[in-house]
Amino acid sequence: MTTVLILGANGKIARLAEDQLLKQTDVNMKLFLRKASRMQTSDSSRQTVVEGDATVKSDLVDALAGVDVVYANLAGSNIEQQAKAVVQAMDEAGVKRLIWISTLGIYDEVPGKYGEWNHQMLDGGYLETYSAAAKVIESSDLDYTIIRPAWLSNNDIISYETTRKGEPFKGTEVSRKSIADIVVKHIVDPSQDVHESLGVNQPGTDGDKPSFY
Ligand SMILES: NC(=O)c1ccc[n+]([C@@H]2O[C@H](COP(=O)([O-])OP(=O)(O)OC[C@H]3O[C@@H](n4cnc5c(N)ncnc54)[C@H](OP(=O)(O)O)[C@@H]3O)[C@@H](O)[C@H]2O)c1
Repeated sequence: MTTVLILGANGKIARLAEDQLLKQTDVNMKLFLRKASRMQTSDSSRQTVVEGDATVKSDLVDALAGVDVVYANLAGSNIEQQAKAVVQAMDEAGVKRLIWISTLGIYDEVPGKYGEWNHQMLDGGYLETYSAAAKVIESSDLDYTIIRPAWLSNNDIISYETTRKGEPFKGTEVSRKSIADIVVKHIVDPSQDVHESLGVNQPGTDGDKPSFY
């Protein structure tokens, strides 16, 4: 039986993935978050809550006991520091498989007017730090998959396509439910897309901006 450690388990995509994992799989979950009292579990036989900070290596090493796959749904201006701690902790614990949520634009892969708009919106800290964090992951010897979502909506839809590193990004937006779905598929079959970085967008959303802007 697979056990996944979910870092940032109270995050918006993470909560959708947890719901889907409970309903559609038999995967066990370790839910890692700051301030564990915020987390209500639905099935205590399959979900364990662990309080910790993703910048603190010892918190991560402790949480990695018995874990097969790590799904990092983290955020913040210190995301590079979090990436370093995750890589070091996974190395120390001997856990290899990592699914890492990043963002579109970290390789300057978004073409055209939408790419320009994306730079205007995300330059000045966010893109640079997410790009640095992805480099930390890609320079590690972990079996990683980086997921680069388009701009996120809360639409109740699962519809997505992917692009690979080196290809131009497609579309402008994608639902959090879609990202949760692709994450769940990689937790259930972790042999997919090892050492890949996938852009994820909703088909048919090409344009200069996401529809909600
Ligand atoms: N918004 C967009 O259009 C867009 C597009 C592409 C990619 N993304 C990125 O996709 C990622 C996931 O999105 P989301 O909507 O699920 O984000 P979210 O709801 O903000 O979840 C991120 C989680 O990271 C946790 N976190 C931050 N620092 C931490 C630390 N040091 N230790 C442990 N946990 C920590 C937060 O925990 P706390 O609850 O403790 O704060 C939060 O629950 C984010 O990195 C986001 O930037 C966003």
